Amino acid sequence: MLNFTYYNPTRIVFGAGSIARLDVLVPADARILILYGGGSAERNGTLAEVEAALGARTVQRFGGIEPNPSYETLMKAVELVRREKLDFLLAVGGGSVIDGSKFVAAAVDYDGEPWHILETYGKHITRAVALGCVLTLPATGSEANCAGVVTRKSIKAKLGFGSSHVYPRFAVLDPEKTYSLPPRQIANGVVDAFVHVMEQYVTYPVHAAVQDRYAESLLQVLIEVGPQALATPQDYEVRANLMWAATQALHGVVGAGVPQDWATHKIGHELTALHGLDHAQTLAIVLPNLLQLRRDVKHDKLLQYASRVWKLDSGTAEARIDAAIARTRAFFESLGVRTRLSDYGIGADAIDEVVTQLAAHGMTAIGEDKGMDLEFSRRILHACL
Ligand code: NZQ
Ligand code: ZN
Repeated sequence: MLNFTYYNPTRIVFGAGSIARLDVLVPADARILILYGGGSAERNGTLAEVEAALGARTVQRFGGIEPNPSYETLMKAVELVRREKLDFLLAVGGGSVIDGSKFVAAAVDYDGEPWHILETYGKHITRAVALGCVLTLPATGSEANCAGVVTRKSIKAKLGFGSSHVYPRFAVLDPEKTYSLPPRQIANGVVDAFVHVMEQYVTYPVHAAVQDRYAESLLQVLIEVGPQALATPQDYEVRANLMWAATQALHGVVGAGVPQDWATHKIGHELTALHGLDHAQTLAIVLPNLLQLRRDVKHDKLLQYASRVWKLDSGTAEARIDAAIARTRAFFESLGVRTRLSDYGIGADAIDEVVTQLAAHGMTAIGEDKGMDLEFSRRILHACL
């Protein structure tokens, strides 16, 4: 096992009716900004429930944070927090709203131009406004991690940052708040959480028995509850298990002490920035082809994945790996997430620009062994057509 430090200060408050707990989670004298997205939290009553729980506290609202939150929009929230001297951010929404709120939290008192946060992956963040969140979409794990992803539309850049200063103080997870999700977002969430686990699990073995079994159990739960969440949208237990699995897929434990890949995400972010695909759609396209082309580096873990997750135990090693990759693709497709660039109208003529953007963002040696150069990413993209 590799050396690691594990730290996660986010208090998780889980279950139906948990929004009422905001009354004790948020300081009584807080001057609050509620940040939310395009209106789903208003339409399904979550926002009203949040405001009721906050009682007589000073509350302002900032809506309109878009999927793949933009720097341009978030800077307006930064101005509002500064102008109104607000001191507590409450994100109500999915990964985009929570990521966006993390950026606002770090940007308010940042020394220098806030885009620098993304240019330096958050390394120079020294403080942040206090932040809590109410999650409405199980997917990213953002509710209990210290990462965020922000898009600057004007230069088509989608970049990530991380800092221990932006861990949410708490995450309220009420599975009932996910009942209003459209099937596309449920499916996206399952794929995103699944790929988070895969990026931390299908690398190379380091004798990390706990992390491996933990990853395998999360993958198996997602394979089980993903289709159920689509088939029976108001089943509380199904939504509860999906929500808890998605949080754990990226709150630190699965990835502690093991090599991590993240090349699928890095290529995927460029596809979203250039072509507007949903985050999970990009992952469903890239991952199967990346596993195929990196099967030498990932050989042993692919065999373990085949056996323990898909119960593929007969045939040659190469045949079992082929079958496991095919099952992965079929799982994404079964949820309704298409797995080819051509399914989204993107052809070979688009690949040069994706590679150029990878180069511009320093993604020239990616993967768990830094073994993927730009030409390798280009080969993967061609396989994705
Ligand atoms: O904007 P509203 O109206 O709220 O609608 C949203 C949005 O259109 C809707 N939605 C959310 N909760 C709903 C709902 N609709 C009905 N009922 C509800 N309860 O869903 C749509 C998508 O929301 P979004 O927040 O964009 O989705 P997701 O949670 O998948 O977040 C994606 C973003 O997270 C980043 C992605 O790159 C992307 O920008 N990621 C963040 C990570 C992290 N912080 O650790 C890791 C991930 O790998 C990922 O990169
Ligand atoms: Zn993701």
